[in-house]
Amino acid sequence: MKIGIIGAGNIGATLARKLVDAGHDVKIANSKGPDTLADIAKDTGAQAVTKEDAVKNVDTVILSIPFLSYQTLTSLLSGVPSDVIVIDTSNYYPFRDGVLDGLDNGTPESVWVGEHIGRPVVKAWNAVLAATLAERGKPKGTEGRIALPVAGDDDRAKAVAMELVEATGFDALDAGSLADSWRQQPGTPAYCTELAIDELKPALLAADRQRAPVNRETLIKGFMENYGKLSHDDTVAMNRAGTA
Ligand SMILES: NC(=O)c1ccc[n+]([C@@H]2O[C@H](COP(=O)([O-])OP(=O)(O)OC[C@H]3O[C@@H](n4cnc5c(N)ncnc54)[C@H](OP(=O)(O)O)[C@@H]3O)[C@@H](O)[C@H]2O)c1
Repeated sequence: MKIGIIGAGNIGATLARKLVDAGHDVKIANSKGPDTLADIAKDTGAQAVTKEDAVKNVDTVILSIPFLSYQTLTSLLSGVPSDVIVIDTSNYYPFRDGVLDGLDNGTPESVWVGEHIGRPVVKAWNAVLAATLAERGKPKGTEGRIALPVAGDDDRAKAVAMELVEATGFDALDAGSLADSWRQQPGTPAYCTELAIDELKPALLAADRQRAPVNRETLIKGFMENYGKLSHDDTVAMNRAGTA
């Protein structure tokens, strides 16, 4: 598959590496331009391009940039054919993105993204820590393989996103429509808790819409207070405890 990734940070570069390894033809772009991506291109095997090139002649576009930056992509995506699938990895964190009215307990984050970029998205890879994505993928069929939720309204687009999630080393779970995707947002039991598929299903159902943003803020405060002191497993354990 031909894939364009916009965003070459923790998530975008890791996805590039894994999707190249899985045999896909991957282009990657950031905001500063391809000259700044030489190391990432060498490391991942993806082709460093401009944002404009990243969305040209591709089957799927993956957006992996800070939540607020999505608003800058509207005109870029307006010329992209409607059958090109757009996958959104983003999460909204008010301490980083500023407080946006209507998001907490209102519009699900990926619905907001779709409205701002002018086309629907599939939500995938938002609920996995960057280190989990980089290091804890396993071949399909491995017992206890970590599962990731995928939400979207278009069945074909969601099926493709699920296939790509599987290619990166994780079971893909159909988490329903984009309207349901608040169940995999920060502060929910499904978010960055490294669950296997039989655990992820009840975790999505157990999500509490009112509590999720409260949990998110409590967890962020705890992570900031313990900055530099937590192992990856400590982080996952805090996410589990803070959303149980
Ligand atoms: N980190 C995690 O554990 C994690 C897990 C799941 C989901 N997410 C979500 O995934 C998204 C990306 O996270 P990340 O941790 O990978 O971020 P990151 O490491 O900060 O990387 C962000 C990337 O986006 C690029 N970028 C920013 N604005 C852009 C624009 N307008 N056009 C093109 N590229 C732009 C940056 O390029 P320049 O440096 O050139 O500006 C950079 O390559 C976020 O929404 C985040 O919430 C993160």
